[in-house]
Amino acid sequence: MTKTIITLNKADLTLGSAAARVHVLKDIDLHISAGESVGIVGPSGSGKSTLLMVLAGLERLDSGEIVIDGAPLHSLSEDALAEFRGKNIGIVFQSFHLIANMTALENVAVPLELANVRDAFDIARRELTAVGLGERLGHYPGQLSGGEQQRVAIARALAPSPAVLIADEPTGNLDTETGRQIADLLFAKQAERGMTMLLVTHDTSLAARCSRQIRVRSGQIVDDGTSEIKPHVVSA
Ligand SMILES: Nc1ncnc2c1ncn2[C@@H]1O[C@H](COP(=O)(O)OP(=O)(O)OP(=O)(O)O)[C@@H](O)[C@H]1O
Ligand SMILES: [Mg+2]
Repeated sequence: MTKTIITLNKADLTLGSAAARVHVLKDIDLHISAGESVGIVGPSGSGKSTLLMVLAGLERLDSGEIVIDGAPLHSLSEDALAEFRGKNIGIVFQSFHLIANMTALENVAVPLELANVRDAFDIARRELTAVGLGERLGHYPGQLSGGEQQRVAIARALAPSPAVLIADEPTGNLDTETGRQIADLLFAKQAERGMTMLLVTHDTSLAARCSRQIRVRSGQIVDDGTSEIKPHVVSA
């Protein structure tokens, strides 16, 4: 039987204060099996990025539970949560989020060093070479194309060998062809490492490449991608 790696149980979150309060996640239940690739789709403002931030341990719930690989994230201390995140969850953003005054190699190696990983620079060199950037180790983000910057971000996310890879519109800032190459890279890495991958995308063809699709609307999951196709009822 496949192991459940992510469980959300009555996950609820309101953000903002006073007039700007938004009930962003409404009582969400979700189970994701290890090794699945999950495409999260839905209208703008429906809560997709917030859901990913909760799954990444970067945003806390007001109530409910989130368990990843047996760890109850909702009840971990800030330090324990940060440590868990560093070891188990890789995150890739639409706008790359690289540090401008660090080289590609440093962008990947420094977070590993901060996590006390030995041979951080060797691992970083290996990961960057594996995403096709072996010749760009000394380049700064400003000296790299968008697709190359996203490859650095992917190498950084993969370097700790996380069990879960989370990506928020990873191809959103790239042209169609570069976006397809980045998607190919993500799916290849996911298959190679047997990771669980969750990605938010507005690109229906990218979502369709995932083994499962989840639809979010107004802070709720309206289709979790597991329901059987309902028989067509012919009205009399
Ligand atoms: N810090 C905050 N304070 C108040 N409201 C917030 C905050 N963060 C997000 N929201 C609101 O929560 C809702 C969901 O935001 P979220 O960024 O998760 O949407 P999304 O589905 O990722 O949208 P998009 O497709 O445009 O990226 C939005 O209406 C947004 O305005
Ligand atoms: Mg978003």
